[in-house]
Amino acid sequence: MNHHDIQLDKYGRLKHFLTIDGLDRSLLLDILNHAESFAGVGERAVKKVPLLRGKTIANLFFEPSTRTRTTFELAAKRLSADIINLNIASSATRKGESLLDTLRTLEAMHCDMFVVRHANSGAAHFIASQVAPHVSVINAGDGSHSHPTQAMLDMFTIRMHKKDFSSLRVAIVGDILHSRVARSEIHALSTLGVSEVRVIGPRTLIPKDIHTLGVHVFYDLIAGLEDVDVIVTLRLQRERMRSALLPSEQEYFNLYGLTETKLAAAKPDVIVMHPGPINRGVEIDSHVADGKRSVILQQVSHGIAVRMAIMAMTLGNLAESKPKESDAHSN
Ligand code: CP
Repeated sequence: MNHHDIQLDKYGRLKHFLTIDGLDRSLLLDILNHAESFAGVGERAVKKVPLLRGKTIANLFFEPSTRTRTTFELAAKRLSADIINLNIASSATRKGESLLDTLRTLEAMHCDMFVVRHANSGAAHFIASQVAPHVSVINAGDGSHSHPTQAMLDMFTIRMHKKDFSSLRVAIVGDILHSRVARSEIHALSTLGVSEVRVIGPRTLIPKDIHTLGVHVFYDLIAGLEDVDVIVTLRLQRERMRSALLPSEQEYFNLYGLTETKLAAAKPDVIVMHPGPINRGVEIDSHVADGKRSVILQQVSHGIAVRMAIMAMTLGNLAESKPKESDAHSN
């Protein structure tokens, strides 16, 4: 069974959200359109809607996280669900309890959803294959495989600034090899029909077979940034590097760090994105990270509305919507 078999129900609706790969354009647009309607909830005096009242959600983060864990928590609270954050470091996992036994224990507490981050690629998919039929699983990042909610909040951010995906040239810069974000973004951008996706980085950090995903590869930053509309900068994933793939961070910054000077190669209205956490002076200069082209903090804010949409859709509390009139031609 592959990931898309398991994440859709027999009517083609989202049951789990594990990977972008295999999801069709109308479903991705549905997520973006629902997120748009949730975006206003955060602006209200009472930041809540009753959509998931009575549902219980467990955040299971086996790897560190700031943005993803907290925005899932806020998203659940804004949907009026009850959410628990299992502190893995002080949980029975430390006493040798297996992942499956932890899951069965939480199921016995009548959880309806698990939000899972794990260092092993495929962990969320494995959990989805094991849970009770009423439970939904959302992948909050698995190894270097997939980070689908990050990709969708990035698509939301791009659509907000650029409107029309079909004319866009997008560059993803940095450690593509270890990046679950890069893989998910490439699938989302291709499905939404952008005109070109480029990956830019040193040879040691670009998978040899990446062209099979339909991207263009650049080893030179300036050449790769020429005329792009969107730049996605990635962190060096030191924790996933098994050997020394880079001479030094300083040399990496000299060649691939995004500075104001290098940014000039892109279109004047380029937006600069980064999933975070950012390492200033390694993959991005502070002037760019905090500059007027940066939408990095907007990405974080959009994470709440997009995760609200995905949680409500997987728990079956949102009807499939018709694509907006404008989606048919522009997106
Ligand atoms: N972008 C992202 O996944 O950040 P966190 O690791 O802080 O969740």
